[in-house]
Amino acid sequence: MHNAKILVIDDEIGICEGIRRALAPQGLSVDIATSGAEGMQKIQSGGYDLTLLDIMMPGVSGIDLITEIHRHDPEIVCIIITGYATVELAVQAIKQGAYDFLTKPFSVDDLTLAVSQGLERRRLSLEARRLQAIEAEARRLTEEKARLEELDKAKRQFIRLVTHEMQAPVAAIQNYLQLILDGYVPPENQPEIIGKCMARAQEEMDLIADLLELGQLQVLAKPLKTTPVHLEGLLVAVMDNLRTQAEQKNLRFDLNITPDLPPVMGAPEHFKSVWTNLIANAIKYTPAGGAVTISLRCDNEQVIGEVSDTGIGIPLEDQPRLFTEFFRAANAKALDVPGTGLGLAIVRQIIAAAGGSITVQSEVGRGATFRFSLPAAKKQAEC
Ligand SMILES: Nc1ncnc2c1ncn2[C@@H]1O[C@H](COP(=O)(O)OP(=O)(O)OP(=O)(O)O)[C@@H](O)[C@H]1O
Ligand SMILES: [Mg+2]
Repeated sequence: MHNAKILVIDDEIGICEGIRRALAPQGLSVDIATSGAEGMQKIQSGGYDLTLLDIMMPGVSGIDLITEIHRHDPEIVCIIITGYATVELAVQAIKQGAYDFLTKPFSVDDLTLAVSQGLERRRLSLEARRLQAIEAEARRLTEEKARLEELDKAKRQFIRLVTHEMQAPVAAIQNYLQLILDGYVPPENQPEIIGKCMARAQEEMDLIADLLELGQLQVLAKPLKTTPVHLEGLLVAVMDNLRTQAEQKNLRFDLNITPDLPPVMGAPEHFKSVWTNLIANAIKYTPAGGAVTISLRCDNEQVIGEVSDTGIGIPLEDQPRLFTEFFRAANAKALDVPGTGLGLAIVRQIIAAAGGSITVQSEVGRGATFRFSLPAAKKQAEC
């Protein structure tokens, strides 16, 4: 109770002074306000634990004042002083959040008891609030710890996978070179073996390039410089790069692009990577003579892109893991076409960083459709 700050709000200065004289010797600091307005001003300057307030003051009702005081600090204890007690008034005051009631005239003992109980109540409710805050913080920390552990586990697994993937081409190159060094390869066959070494070295370089891109995306949750990007414009450049591969397999390409599409926000290089990965996959996993359809449209302020093929498809049970690093479905591995399983992980990150999402629909042997949607850039979002 020591050092507690009390405010008496009463237009009768005699009552105010009487209360101050009674409470000051108990180590309480007592301030006085002789009107509701002055009382509110003092409350707003802060620091009060308890108010004793007259329920009948000119111009303002003590009951309304309780609401205002509690709007400022819900833990300030309000004790009503009234000249005449009516049950109705008491009920109303308590409903408004008053803690107790003193009826004039009251003795020093009545006053001391009400004030000390009121201060105890404040102490308990502040303590309860502090405990609630500690509990909430403890819950948050437990969740954060679980999240970090999960992240750490994923990271360790990722490093294991990367090491494994990076070892394979180097080990193959070593074996080939060892064969040459040990004299098992006649000079006329050496170019073929060296060619194989070159192919594996290229695989390693591709893997490193993918890892670098992935690493960069993870660090920059959002690309550094985002500009409005027209996805249809990038498509031309990507198709040029992939044309030879597509022609070699005699694949038909169909493009359905809605005119006047709004741009999306992001880095052009990243979106180029999205097209490259999705279209390269469609080419890679579609047998010769098949078809690849690319479409781009706008719906509900989202730009929606689709790359669809008539290829080998993806088993349903593999689809949930498709966008995780290094995952390759068994039917893709069986094809004996090179791949590290990083392409779709990169695509997913780029799309997520731009605020979009990507899904896949596929049946084994009946092709696959990858559909992404990205929010249209704000200004031109009418679609
Ligand atoms: N169009 C598709 N048709 C069938 N399977 C696909 C298709 N696209 C992706 N997949 C499956 O998803 C897996 C992951 O694709 P992702 O692009 O991440 O890796 P990748 O093509 O194997 O290798 P890379 O990292 O070189 O792109 C593939 O290995 C394949 O199993
Ligand atoms: Mg790929």
